[in-house]
Amino acid sequence: MDSALDTKHDEKHGIVGGYVPERADWTIDQNWHDYTAEEHGTWKTLFDRQMKLIPGRASQHYMDGLKDLPITADGIPDFERLSDALEKRTGWRVVAVPGMVPNDVFFNHMANRRFPAGQFIRKAHQLDYLQEPDVFHDIFGHVPMMVNPVMADFMQAYGAGGLRAERLGVLDYLARLYWYTVEFGLIQDPDGIRIFGGGILSSFTETRFALEDPSPNRIGFDLERVMRTKYRIDEFQETYFVMPSIDTLFDMAQTDFGPIYEKLKTQSDYGLADVLASDRVFNRGTGAYHKALLTGV
Ligand code: CO
Repeated sequence: MDSALDTKHDEKHGIVGGYVPERADWTIDQNWHDYTAEEHGTWKTLFDRQMKLIPGRASQHYMDGLKDLPITADGIPDFERLSDALEKRTGWRVVAVPGMVPNDVFFNHMANRRFPAGQFIRKAHQLDYLQEPDVFHDIFGHVPMMVNPVMADFMQAYGAGGLRAERLGVLDYLARLYWYTVEFGLIQDPDGIRIFGGGILSSFTETRFALEDPSPNRIGFDLERVMRTKYRIDEFQETYFVMPSIDTLFDMAQTDFGPIYEKLKTQSDYGLADVLASDRVFNRGTGAYHKALLTGV
């Protein structure tokens, strides 16, 4: 996000880059032995940087999962080895994909406890600029939480729910739920508000912004509220939602969203920075960060 000037040098991956899949499920071989020393070095730089930052900021659920897996400073993890460890815990495996894949392909993997992870890693000169999820985002950001059985079940339910939501034409609502939980979710741990969203935990700058900056709203999680709230894909979020505990994910994995979709169809969406009278507000954001983007200050 920091170096938009580099855009013209970017490679595009997966569906965005016009990739034509050889296999119907879009998986590719990770070819772990082909990663260069520089690519492993980029992983190590990213890993070491995040590990200085996340103790006391990441949810204990995440830290417990990370400790339990072969995700280390040594280099890009071998997906086979990582999957063998993860599968013993929660039955999930990680499969390599070239980058972004079509929704139905993504949901199908998830519904079958396969997590599609980008095979490539960002370039060393673009540590903070990422327009597509790479191996660091997907593995470091997301996989530790999947050691947690509640998250593991939620992710599978999301995959199945995604296939259904696509058929019903209501994918936007479900995508917002994913965005504000799996990607950018905060949670109340016994010691305070912590991060569990992989989009935050894999980002050096957003880790502090999401938790500590006065600019964004931090609002208590409410399923319908979240499903009605737009999000931004190009910048830090203007609002983060705080789940009261991991039980919220457990409850949602058992919930039939059908009636909720029907209700939401009759209601309007909320803007990025809206704060409602019904919100439980942990922090009413100043909005300073996003205002400065507009004025270029
Ligand atoms: Co992600």
